[in-house]
Parts: sequence; C-alpha cells; structure tokens
Amino acid sequence: MARVNIPTFKLNDGRDIPVLGYGTWLGMDEDEASGPSKPFSFEFSAAGMPKMNEALSYAIDIGYRHIDTAHLYRMEPEVGKIVNKKIQDGVVKREDLFITTKVWHHYHREADVEVSVRDSLRRLNLDYVDLVLMHWPMSISQEGVDEKIDYLETWRGFEIVLQKGLAKSIGVSNFNLEQMKRLLANCKVPPAVNQVEINLNLGQKDLVDYCSSHKVLTVAYSPFGTMVPSRSAPNSPEPKLNNPTMVAIAKKYGKTVTQVTLRYLYQRGIVSIPKTVTHSRVLENGSIFDFNLDNSEMDTLAKFDVGFRTLRPIFWQDYENYPFDKVPGKMEIPESLRKWKNGINLDIE
Ligand SMILES: NC(=O)c1ccc[n+]([C@@H]2O[C@H](COP(=O)([O-])OP(=O)(O)OC[C@H]3O[C@@H](n4cnc5c(N)ncnc54)[C@H](OP(=O)(O)O)[C@@H]3O)[C@@H](O)[C@H]2O)c1
Repeated sequence: MARVNIPTFKLNDGRDIPVLGYGTWLGMDEDEASGPSKPFSFEFSAAGMPKMNEALSYAIDIGYRHIDTAHLYRMEPEVGKIVNKKIQDGVVKREDLFITTKVWHHYHREADVEVSVRDSLRRLNLDYVDLVLMHWPMSISQEGVDEKIDYLETWRGFEIVLQKGLAKSIGVSNFNLEQMKRLLANCKVPPAVNQVEINLNLGQKDLVDYCSSHKVLTVAYSPFGTMVPSRSAPNSPEPKLNNPTMVAIAKKYGKTVTQVTLRYLYQRGIVSIPKTVTHSRVLENGSIFDFNLDNSEMDTLAKFDVGFRTLRPIFWQDYENYPFDKVPGKMEIPESLRKWKNGINLDIE
C-alpha cells in the first residue's frame, strides 16, 4: 500500500503537530450545485458520512496522524469509532495520533467549556484530545441570542481544560489580528494555534506574521479556497485548477495544482487540513513532501492573494466579536448551525 510521510511542526508548548491533517467537515449541500436559481440550502450534508468514514480509515492506514474535527461537524462518534478500531488493530498508537476538536458558540461561559470538551470526549470515546479550539470568538445561544460573553472568559475555561489534562494543547479559531493581540495580552497560557481560512486567494499575511512572531502556529482551513469545482462561484478569483501559471508549476514537479497549493502553505510554515472523501485525493494531498517550490514560484503564488474569503457567514456579522469585515446583506442563522445531533444516524446528542 502507498504511504505518506508527513513531517511535524513544533507548537509553543513543546508538542509536535503533523503539518497536514485530515479535515472532517462535510459541509453544507456541497454536492448539489447552488446558484441564483437554486439557493444554497444550508442543510448539513450527512449523506457523505459513509464515504468519509472510509476515506478517514484509509488516511490512517497510509500514514495520516492528524485529524481535525469539531462538535459542529457531527463526526465525533465516527472519528472515535475509526480511531479506536485502528488502535485495537495495532495500526496506530493513541500517542502517535493528533486529534483536534472544537467548542461551539453555545459553550462560551467559563464552566461550560469543560462541559463541551467532556461531551466531545464521550462522543469520541477518548480520554483526551490533542488540541481543543474555541471555534469562533462570538458567543451565541442555541436560540440565536447574542450572549456577548467575552472570549477572555471563555479562554479561562480552556486553561482549566488544559490543566485537567482533557486536552494536551489549547488554541483558537477564526480570531482576527486585534482579537489575537488582546488574547495574548490577557492570558495565562497562550494559544498554541489559530485556525483560520488561508488559501491562495486569502493569504492573511499580517495575521500569520503576527502569530508566528508570537509563537502561535497558524492552521489553514479551506486550503483550496474556491479553486476546486465544488467551491467555485461565478465571482471567485483565479486560480482555478486549470490556471496556466499553476499548471506550469505543477508540471515542472510532476505534481497537481492542489499539491502545489498545499506545498506553498507548508513552505509558509502553515499547517493545512484539507477535506476529501476521495481515496486518490487522500494520497495526493499527503504526497507533497518530495519537492520544493523556489523563491520566485513562492512569489508568483503569493500574487493570487486578493483578500477573497470563501467562508463568509453573514448571518453572524451583527454579533459581538464577529471577526471579519462586514458586507451588505442580512440572513437568519440557519437552523443546522444552531441545533443538531451527532454520528452517522444523527442520533447522539
Ligand atoms: N475552524 C473553522 O471554522 C473551519 C471552517 C471550515 C473548515 N474547517 C476545517 O478545514 C477542513 C478543510 O476545509 P474545507 O472542507 O472547507 O475545504 P477544502 O479542504 O479546501 O476543500 C474541500 C473540497 O476540495 C475537494 N478536494 C480535496 N482534495 C482535492 C484534490 N486533491 N483535488 C481536487 N479536489 C480536492 C473536496 O472534494 P471531495 O471531498 O469530493 O474529494 C472538497 O470538495 C474542514 O474539513 C474542517 O476540518 C474549519
């Protein structure tokens, strides 16, 4: 069986994190074309779960050791089943895996962070996670009420979870530059990572530079942005998979455009967590450690950064601590982002 050999970066707490992980967010109605005649439904695509189970199992078999999940993703029971089976079968040891989960908006009171992490551990059937992240800086109840809880209070809950050994490392996600500065100035334990959207169209240079100068590692979600057909929209910028500049660089190294993209992020010192339910792509995404982009290629790729966001949740933009710039438009928070069940049968609370 083909294998991947994924190196690690050092976190500020001394632990190692594999530079490439397997992302487990199945997304929302991704399989169905949306557009002006068919608006995005915001229904969670539960139908992809069996395929993801197989792909994740394969990923571990070929050498992936880092898995990115979250309470929101409904996948914790599945991740737990697969991981525990791989451990029982002797494919991998628990200590060789790096499992991340996240605390959702509903659990931002200091004491609720531990409740959320213990619930995640129960669903995962694990004693600890390697990393737990504050999924977003806003605090919103299940009913959609803005609870206006300061993320500094929430962070104290994360420090407690760390102290109790429920997570080996703690971090944040979707924090902007100002929020990172404020958190770092007011915490006992600094976050080990900030997980944010980064891809060729959204380089986030200032945020990444600030984080790296303060020893906070950046993890890139949606590393392909709108480059892949399932995500591309009429207004989304270049490059697409057939972009001539990208294709030429990929050809030079005998790689694909997506591999060049992941390699670029790695050479910027950024961890990526691409999601795929396709076996061949699991292998492809992990096979980026045998070539090196030169400086002029790195500069060429950097020019695709036009500050374009793939993920723009406008339904949260009037909530306190929303981290992105606001755009015109209004929308209610979709039900599927407020209330859900977990697992393949969506029957575990
Ligand atoms: N912290 C946060 O707020 C946050 C937000 C979003 C995502 N995330 C995390 O980041 C992970 C990745 O982000 P994402 O799922 O939004 O986007 P992504 O990984 O950039 O893109 C996923 C899409 O790319 C396709 N794909 C994957 N590898 C490919 C390849 N080699 N060639 C062509 N197409 C390929 C997948 O198709 P197939 O599956 O059909 O192969 C899927 O349609 C998530 O799963 C989740 O773990 C975190």
